[in-house]
Amino acid sequence: MNQISVIQTQAIKKTFPGVVALSGIDFTLHTGEIHCIVGENGAGKSTFIKILSGFLRPDSGEIVIGGHTFHHLTPHLSQEQGIQVIYQESLLVPQMSVVENIFVGRELTGKFGFIDRKRALSETRKIIDSLGIDLDPQAMIESLEVADRQFVKIIKALAMNPRVLIMDEPTAMFNAQDTDVVLKLVEDISKRGISVIFISHRLEEVARVGDRVSVFKDGKTVASHENPNRDIDLAMITREMVGRSVDAFYKKVKTSPGETILEVKGLKLEKNSPEVNFSLRRGEILGIAGLVGSGRTEIVEALFGAGKKVQGKIIIKGQEVTINRPADAIRSGIGFITEERQKTGLALGLSVAKNMTVAGLNKFKGFFITPSDETHSAGRYVDDLAIKTPSLQQEVRFLSGGNQQKVVIARWLFRESEILIFDEPTIGIDVNAKAEIYRLMSELAENGAALIMISSEMPELIAMSDRVLVIKHGQVTTELSGKDITEEKIITYAFGVTDDEQTA
Ligand SMILES: Nc1ncnc2c1ncn2[C@@H]1O[C@H](COP(=O)(O)OP(=O)(O)OP(=O)(O)O)[C@@H](O)[C@H]1O
Ligand SMILES: [Mg+2]
Repeated sequence: MNQISVIQTQAIKKTFPGVVALSGIDFTLHTGEIHCIVGENGAGKSTFIKILSGFLRPDSGEIVIGGHTFHHLTPHLSQEQGIQVIYQESLLVPQMSVVENIFVGRELTGKFGFIDRKRALSETRKIIDSLGIDLDPQAMIESLEVADRQFVKIIKALAMNPRVLIMDEPTAMFNAQDTDVVLKLVEDISKRGISVIFISHRLEEVARVGDRVSVFKDGKTVASHENPNRDIDLAMITREMVGRSVDAFYKKVKTSPGETILEVKGLKLEKNSPEVNFSLRRGEILGIAGLVGSGRTEIVEALFGAGKKVQGKIIIKGQEVTINRPADAIRSGIGFITEERQKTGLALGLSVAKNMTVAGLNKFKGFFITPSDETHSAGRYVDDLAIKTPSLQQEVRFLSGGNQQKVVIARWLFRESEILIFDEPTIGIDVNAKAEIYRLMSELAENGAALIMISSEMPELIAMSDRVLVIKHGQVTTELSGKDITEEKIITYAFGVTDDEQTA
């Protein structure tokens, strides 16, 4: 079949100081297709996208768009060619509304040059309706859940009437339901004739929506497969990505739980919210399930002193502790790996080593960390978690998205907290590193730590948890353990059962 290509690149190369990010990307995007790109953390996916958006200039290679050959693009040129990109990092203004974010920088002007708010609002509503999602165009971004923020980014791109829509891990923050909405949306967008480049670490969704799947490895295109029947062989894709087979689902080693280390009693986030009670033993992984927005994150934030709470006792090793700020929590031995990298205060301008050791000050005897202590210990985690960085001194902002997430994890491992909260720990992490993180979590539990894991990925929650608390509307609707931890039960309690049925 003679397919028409919208974008074609040849031998695109890009080097950063000490890092070869791209060593030869050949890539063809055909009209109307959904072309998925997969690859390990640091393989060069985002760098390639930034070259297509004109944000980065390649060292060499060619980009052909609609018959024109370019050696590099600029953001303006790229947009002019109809390319719209939704990046991995959020670029929304939190203190502005949805509609303001969508039209920021290109306000629609009415008569006399005033901003035509009405038109902006009605255009936004039109797109929201056509997508069939539930979103208030006048809501402030900061009040929105992560999933809704992602929808805003998609709407913003669509408002530009693109020919090509590029999405870099659009579903990373999403649970199964929201992911489903996004995937349907992507299919819908492609049916309108827009060509889509879709990057994801979730291979099942790539198999589901991709007309074509290309594999990047070490900055090169190593394979490109058509997927007309949506049945692409994912084991093969994994081998092409990693260079060997990976057992994607590691299961936690069963340990016999030790003493109770944490008790949360009568925790209330607001005056009228339900009480939350749970306990945690050494050696255990307590899973927390629930829809995004169910209050899962708020509960652990309150425990960590990072969110509001009006009452509740927190007892650690039999002693009641006062936790008003994260610093109190850290002192009590609690670590928190949050779902949003940017929010965790990764110091983007500091080195990999500094970012890891900043929470681990007490690990060293004196008050000062000597550079060699730091390097030695940080080096271990760089190896264990396979963090791709040219050196420990590299600034974190130059790391790929997935590798930044690994630094967040390493920081808390470094701190040797006895109680560790993981909020969506494997977001944006490639299959290989995922298995590594599961192994590390299991090892921590075996060594006597107690873990809490919030996750929207059912398979990982089920494989890793000894017990699962299901949260709905801020309330624990059930606690499952052992054989009762099934997807069906979790879903039933997460949203199948209404409040009335529960109390009846
Ligand atoms: N501005 C930069 N300066 C230095 N190195 C960079 C810069 N941008 C990217 N890199 C490096 O280039 C390589 C490719 O990074 P890129 O972000 O393209 O990976 P990725 O495939 O998107 O990974 P992930 O799945 O983690 O998002 C990485 O080793 C990264 O650290
Ligand atoms: Mg990336």
